Amino acid sequence: MKKIITIVGARPQFIKAAMLSRVLADYQGLEEIILHTGQHYDHGMSDVFFSEMNIPRPKYNLGVGGGNQGAMTGRQLEGIETVLIDERPDCVLVYGDTNSTLAGSLAAAKLHIPVAHVEAGLRSYNRRMPEEVNRVLTDHLSRFLLTPSHKAALNLAREGLEDGVHFVGDIMYDAALFYAGQTASRVGTILDRVHQTLDNFVLVTVHRQENTDAPDRLEAILDALRQLAADRPVVLPIHPRLRKMLEAGGKFDEMTLGLTIIAPVGFVDMISLLQAASLVLTDSGGVQKEAYFHGTPAVILRDETEWGELVDLNWATLCPPNSPAHILAAADAMTGRTGDTEATPYGSGDAAERIAAILLDEL
Ligand code: UD1
Ligand code: UDP
Repeated sequence: MKKIITIVGARPQFIKAAMLSRVLADYQGLEEIILHTGQHYDHGMSDVFFSEMNIPRPKYNLGVGGGNQGAMTGRQLEGIETVLIDERPDCVLVYGDTNSTLAGSLAAAKLHIPVAHVEAGLRSYNRRMPEEVNRVLTDHLSRFLLTPSHKAALNLAREGLEDGVHFVGDIMYDAALFYAGQTASRVGTILDRVHQTLDNFVLVTVHRQENTDAPDRLEAILDALRQLAADRPVVLPIHPRLRKMLEAGGKFDEMTLGLTIIAPVGFVDMISLLQAASLVLTDSGGVQKEAYFHGTPAVILRDETEWGELVDLNWATLCPPNSPAHILAAADAMTGRTGDTEATPYGSGDAAERIAAILLDEL
């Protein structure tokens, strides 16, 4: 029996882990233990995913959330190392590019435990993003580089990483397909809750540090959203980072005037909103792709994207959020747009099966 420790901490990692845990549970030769760093801890940012998506209860929760980049990563590193020394797993599984990802891969690599990185090879080539630092380092520490796109494998090759690279497709595509079938009974409920009807509203998420922590960009985004809301409803499930930033500035009500602000929602409700919206505005890695998976055009509120296929296929446009006019023009241009529906840049929706097979084979 081979033992795998899965390290998760942030919302998108729970969704990815849900897909793989379900498959790993069916493999006789593998035992999975889940370690939650505690990076995300509100009910709506963490527990809701464990219960809704039947993710096995974490055996460990380190309770390390909040704080500066170094402090958070360092405290997670220390806690993870202790668990790994105790458990002596055959492999550590990490997802994406958060501080929990880097802490997990660094702790494992120093203990000579093979690291499997799901979502390897993504690059923005912007080292000012904490995520870019986390993902580059994690890739260089990993034995198994499990890529979501062919572009990702090319990025790795450019850095001399070719051994252990496996194209498996995007595990978020697995999740999109799996849960799309469950929205039928829920879509009415969530739309009623946000007082919207089908195809009538814009869905927005904003949480990137480079937007929330840059006053000019945040003001440009919220100014554009308020103008957009004069024309059509704007629904914004608010990430705690954005909420905290607006509350700290003392202008929450003024800045969000006219917007439909709701608490973060569970994954099935989120998919229902993505399917029903006429347009998505987001700086989220996951949400920009899910808009495409569910056939909704998107404006990416960033300077660059790790998911350039979305722009190439005309499902999304990049819009550095430096002026309201720029954002409104991008929203207008994307409304009603349908991109390429034939291409399959992110695999076949069987990334979890492929990853499990690789791990069983290689360990
Ligand atoms: C983190 C990841 C980012 C990912 C995002 C997913 C890093 C560097 N960033 O960003 O890559 O896209 O998660 O959502 O790892 N907070 C709460 N309650 C919570 C969670 C967070 O109040 O449940 C607060 C924290 O205390 C902190 C702020 O929100 O003040 C930001 O949280 P943090 O985990 O540092 O970064 P995210 O912006 O969530
Ligand atoms: N998500 C969710 N509820 C919300 C907002 C987002 O379930 O209120 C999901 C979203 O559908 C996607 C994931 O969370 O699957 C993305 O997480 P986030 O935007 O926080 O992080 P990123 O993908 O940018 O790392």
